[in-house]
Amino acid sequence: MAVLVTGGGGYIGSHMVWALLDAGEDVVVIDRLSTGFRWAIAPEARFYEGDIADAELLRRIFSENSVDSIIHFAGSIVVPESVADPLGYYENNTVKSRSLIASAVEAGIPHFVFSSTAAVYGTPSVLEPVTEDLPLRPESPYGSSKLMTEIMLKDTAAAHDLTYTALRYFNVAGADPKGRSGQSSALATHLIKVACATALGKRASMNVFGTDYPTPDGTCVRDYIHVWDLAQAHLKALQRMRAGGGSLAANCGYGHGYSVLEVLDAVRKVHGSDFPVTFAERRPGDPAMIVANPGLARQELGWTPELDDLEGIIASALDWERHLMRKNSAG
Ligand code: UFG
Repeated sequence: MAVLVTGGGGYIGSHMVWALLDAGEDVVVIDRLSTGFRWAIAPEARFYEGDIADAELLRRIFSENSVDSIIHFAGSIVVPESVADPLGYYENNTVKSRSLIASAVEAGIPHFVFSSTAAVYGTPSVLEPVTEDLPLRPESPYGSSKLMTEIMLKDTAAAHDLTYTALRYFNVAGADPKGRSGQSSALATHLIKVACATALGKRASMNVFGTDYPTPDGTCVRDYIHVWDLAQAHLKALQRMRAGGGSLAANCGYGHGYSVLEVLDAVRKVHGSDFPVTFAERRPGDPAMIVANPGLARQELGWTPELDDLEGIIASALDWERHLMRKNSAG
């Protein structure tokens, strides 16, 4: 049976394709290449260029491949962008996911893994790491657009023969330990990506957004998880559903957080030199602190993270930035 990866040319999707191939899976990718790259998709995967809301294309993919599972990454992911363009986010993340889910139901695809987010929790009401049973109160259209998809999946799973796993990602960073993939979009706004690009001189400077949060050093605290460990959690989710496990929503993080300033210090340490930083106003939509309790994923998926090390995450991200610089200078 084949696994259909949506957004397989994107950052996390491209790692997932490699992880599936490494695990001996047959892989099919759909990506419209709006932010992803054709070259980022492993050549062993069968590639269809197009939109997840193109029901005709989905029918063709399902008729040409024996797909039993969909792993759905395609979507927009930048919190402040979603604040500025909420309807764009509801269209791209919610409306198009609805169409993809409808295509899955029509074709009788039994398993669906959804790329959800810690942003569904908003600012947690507790200081401890968040568990899945906390109230879901997204603070950005991005978080809401993902939560709506989780709700659609839950209701669809109750009405049809579809089992889903929603994985709520915390802050994904780093690159493939074998150097085959990484975060490649020059437009990416995520902290570790931006800090590595600045350290390497690809950017003149960077901002620290907000220094007056109610956190130990005043900057936001996040749970940074290695993209490779995250891909492994998806493999475990597939195995569990194929073995008859039911639907599940589970956090994917390590259970401890770092502030923005701690991350920047770690980048300086791993890179071995300082770089310019500007202290700026808070960014819209940012919760002060959010850290995962990964207990459910460990227990239900049997997921054991192996790369829980901030400096190791940063080292792999720096390696990938250097790779991109060489690739670009080679034309
Ligand atoms: N930050 C900076 N400067 C930058 C970039 C980010 O100070 O140049 C700060 C942000 O303000 C925030 C922290 O670094 O406090 C992390 O920001 P990111 O943009 O890296 O990530 P977010 O926390 O906004 O969002 C990410 C994912 C979401 C996920 C969320 C969960 O994009 O999908 O983590 O915490 F929901």
